[in-house]
Amino acid sequence: MKNLSSVPALNVGIIGCGNIFPAYAKGCTIFRALNLKACADLNMEAAAKRAEEYHIAALSVDELLADPSIDLVINLTVPKVHAKVSMEILRAGKHVYGEKPLALDTQEGKAVLELAASKKLRVGCAPDTFLGAGLQTSRKLIDDGWIGRPLAGTAFMLGAGPERWHPNPAFFYAQGGGPMLDMGPYYITALVHLLGPVSAVSAMASKSGPGRLATCKEHFGEILPVEVATHNSGSLLFENGAVVTIAVSFDVPRHTHKPIEIYGTEGSISVPDPNTFGGPISVFRPGNEDWKEMPFAYAYHENSRSIGAADMAHAIHSGREHRCNGSLALHVLEVMKAFEKSQESRCTIEIANRCTQPKAFPQGLPPGVLDD
Ligand SMILES: NC(=O)c1ccc[n+]([C@@H]2O[C@H](COP(=O)([O-])OP(=O)(O)OC[C@H]3O[C@@H](n4cnc5c(N)ncnc54)[C@H](O)[C@@H]3O)[C@@H](O)[C@H]2O)c1
Repeated sequence: MKNLSSVPALNVGIIGCGNIFPAYAKGCTIFRALNLKACADLNMEAAAKRAEEYHIAALSVDELLADPSIDLVINLTVPKVHAKVSMEILRAGKHVYGEKPLALDTQEGKAVLELAASKKLRVGCAPDTFLGAGLQTSRKLIDDGWIGRPLAGTAFMLGAGPERWHPNPAFFYAQGGGPMLDMGPYYITALVHLLGPVSAVSAMASKSGPGRLATCKEHFGEILPVEVATHNSGSLLFENGAVVTIAVSFDVPRHTHKPIEIYGTEGSISVPDPNTFGGPISVFRPGNEDWKEMPFAYAYHENSRSIGAADMAHAIHSGREHRCNGSLALHVLEVMKAFEKSQESRCTIEIANRCTQPKAFPQGLPPGVLDD
């Protein structure tokens, strides 16, 4: 049921009816600020299939953009066209919330934000997992001083690559893919949420080879061309002085590292996998015998993708800044691209586009409703 909150629901269209579509369509049923009406895809069959599954209209991309009843479009296309499609959405006079990354490079990302500003429209960008119970609770523990002043940390996203399971894995190894642009947004956004913006990056990278063997059932036996680094490692210096060691990789068969740990003057915190909304949180304080698992202090520990778009809908209504905002996404994009620049130049890269640390959620929000 819609409209139980004070916020009138925005009518939503989705462009891109692939693998991630169901997570967003489900999210639109959780959050009362979002009313999913229609979907579109270059592949009309894909759009028709999703439309039937979710009882919405299947339109061509042009029809969806021309529909005056659609207020907000969620862009779930592949990374290499994220900026192009987002700009088409903005030119059609609609707010856009897109999957990560914002764009393929900082310049393209900036152009999206400038167009939105000139049209007084909002740009939102995934990931929104940092709005889940795991990372909101971790943020509260850090802000409340459980580990003292954060000094350092580690972040590891190490895996064997998505070509074994994703039905259309080529884009992960094309420009705009790779472990950094694909998975880095979760980790770097989570770190900015926990610690504030990054001021500099120093990094190295390697590539497993010219091709990857797809073993998913849809493309079994195909060799996928590799245009990007498949392993990135480096150091992030945060404005608050903390230094985080990070590695993201599609070249690791198995490992024993935790996703994110932050070490402070009075303790350590182990933070959940930022590609999830829940996950275990543990704190260690000197004097304790061992790590202590902490309970969630917030809702949304299950997959709640689209919470970022819902937050944007509330923010549009009240005029406040939305949390998954364009300036955060541009900052994260510049940090990720700095890994490439640092690798090529063998130098430390200063980050120019800074953002503010997104505001933490207030506690005790009613189900399906966010703060105005
Ligand atoms: N699959 C996942 O588990 C997952 C998780 C989180 C985020 N994402 C992100 O979501 C985005 C989409 O991923 P996916 O896995 O759904 O990809 P996908 O390849 O399964 O689907 C993408 C869809 O976009 C359509 N498309 C491409 N260009 C288009 C254009 N110009 N106009 C209209 N439609 C267009 C394609 O036809 C396809 O149906 C990517 O940015 C990805 O990084 C995916």
